[in-house]
Amino acid sequence: MTAIAPHGGTLINRVITGEERENLLLAAKNLSVIQINAWTISDLDLIGVGAFSPLTGFLNEEDYHSVVSSMRLADGTVWSIPITLSVSEEQALSLTVQQEVALVGEKDGVVYGLLEIGSIYKVDQTVEVKNVFKTEDPEHPGVKKLMERSPIYLGGSIKVLNRPRPERFGEFYYDPAVTRAIFAEKGWRTVVGFQTRNPVHRAHEYIQKSAMEIVDALFLNPLVGETKSDDVAADVRMQSYLTLLENYYPANRTFLGVFPAAMRYAGPREAIFHAMVRKNYGCTHFIVGRDHAGVGDYYGTYEAQEIFSNFTTEELGISPLFFEHSFFCTKCGNMASSKTCPHPSEDHLTLSGTKVRALLRDGVCPPPEFTRPEVAKVLIEGMSHQVVI
Ligand code: ADX
Repeated sequence: MTAIAPHGGTLINRVITGEERENLLLAAKNLSVIQINAWTISDLDLIGVGAFSPLTGFLNEEDYHSVVSSMRLADGTVWSIPITLSVSEEQALSLTVQQEVALVGEKDGVVYGLLEIGSIYKVDQTVEVKNVFKTEDPEHPGVKKLMERSPIYLGGSIKVLNRPRPERFGEFYYDPAVTRAIFAEKGWRTVVGFQTRNPVHRAHEYIQKSAMEIVDALFLNPLVGETKSDDVAADVRMQSYLTLLENYYPANRTFLGVFPAAMRYAGPREAIFHAMVRKNYGCTHFIVGRDHAGVGDYYGTYEAQEIFSNFTTEELGISPLFFEHSFFCTKCGNMASSKTCPHPSEDHLTLSGTKVRALLRDGVCPPPEFTRPEVAKVLIEGMSHQVVI
């Protein structure tokens, strides 16, 4: 059986183990320290395990400009989101190209990795946000995050020396090499990846199961890194996924594993990024529904699908599966989309994410045609303990 090739052809592995790791940790004591936050720790780790293949480090200047302007690395490989390491101007002045630095968690002092500085460069963040997020609006959560950072970036290859440890649900963290091995072992030739930062409602279930009709299995791969404070917390979502899978999905054709990345809310560009990463995890197909990775009304409903037409099938490697806006139709008595339902919108049950979250916070189950009751129960229970900032 031939597994799908990783993006760029090789699954990157820059996680150092054993004696070499011990030696590097010792040597790191004499290196300059760059403090990194949870977001950068997750980027570092995902580069290290190959989830971001072909990246071997934070983007160097040439790749950065190429990604920002044309969604490709300098060598032409498709890459849509700049993965960068920002440092203060003051710190940058003390650093030189080719120097090795230690990347240390700002909260816990753990040496997560090393960076061999390949370039130190100042960027125009307004150009970056306009190209990546298609807006300069500081209210956009991705733009806001980016504009808070210093515009001085360090590029260069990394080595991972320590892995971030999840507090909960650690058993659902699988590296790409492991998911690839598991899919192969199960004999799955085609696997569809599903990205989500939300509980799985009936519309999500509908598009997943529509996809499952044509592939061997579903890789439910919720993003559990940093999200906006009003998104449902990852541990509550995890509980809800487990409940849903247990009650409504065939165990022998479904696999749950987390994607520990931060959410960028970059809509179309993030859809490409999400697809490339899922290819690295071994998926052959990837679901892109309506307003994938969107927020507010910054992106058109199907822009995250349309962007795929910029690339050839060979360049992408993974096959995107596009789905129209789905809903429960009271006349059809079924889940449907405009592709399959002839009835007017008055017959369609649609609830906004904000409305559903408000219901759940008030302890009210959304209609079962919207959310499975077992799932609603878990969410109500979980969200009653969640502090919303
Ligand atoms: S996302 O930010 O992670 O994309 P979300 O968890 O809501 O958000 O969506 C997960 C996937 O389901 C995305 O591909 C999205 O486009 C799709 N999706 C969500 N709701 C619907 C819907 N009602 N109809 C069709 N696709 C949907």
